Amino acid sequence: MRPLIAGNWKMHGTLREAGALAEAVRAGATAGLPADLLVCPPFPHIHIVAAAMLGQTVAVGAQDCHAAGKGAHTGDVSAAMLRDIGATHVILGHSERRADHGETDAAVRAKVEAALAAGLVPVVCVGETEAQRLAGEAEAVVEGQLAGSLPDGFAGIVAYEPVWAIGTGRTPTEDDIAAIHGTIRAALVARFGPAGQATRILYGGSMKPGNAKAILALAHVDGGLVGGASLVAADFLAIAAAAG
Ligand code: PGA
Repeated sequence: MRPLIAGNWKMHGTLREAGALAEAVRAGATAGLPADLLVCPPFPHIHIVAAAMLGQTVAVGAQDCHAAGKGAHTGDVSAAMLRDIGATHVILGHSERRADHGETDAAVRAKVEAALAAGLVPVVCVGETEAQRLAGEAEAVVEGQLAGSLPDGFAGIVAYEPVWAIGTGRTPTEDDIAAIHGTIRAALVARFGPAGQATRILYGGSMKPGNAKAILALAHVDGGLVGGASLVAADFLAIAAAAG
């Protein structure tokens, strides 16, 4: 399946910097690139980035949404609002949100349902902590997160992001990545059948131009979710080029 390289810009940049980064990604998103591209700016920058990408091949997403369609939820943003300003995707259940905001699997599942109802493609993140990996629990943790975070009828993208590899410059071995992605594929197929076979599974955590080719070549790695390196257009595009 055609890989997807997604940039998670997290809480970085000014409006001007977001515009410049979007323009640089757009300019580099040539027809020959072997991957689809998605960028996920912070909420205040989505509109201008979506406008810059309008009619282009680069999709734009958010990094979270609320589970409710509307209502008295001060400070929150609904999936429909994101659709309205040009987003087509939304990252949900990122480990930073699970940690910073106490998001449980059930909370993530409710957000995934809201995203799907609003016509957004959810990018659902799962991944073990270092302690869980050292205890030999990585696969069980990820299976549990998938079971709890994905609603019936799920149609979206899954991202495997080991918590200890995010922003640390450390990555699992290629064998370990392949093993978990195989486990995720098996779980998706067991639950969703052919749709699970067609679901993209991204790897995330310290993906860089230097390690992208080897990681993206692994079985059941259908792209990447890139944090730090997505803030430099040349690095983000080099990762996309490595998907070929
Ligand atoms: P990183 O972040 O590439 O900076 O490790 C990945 C992520 O958190 O999505």
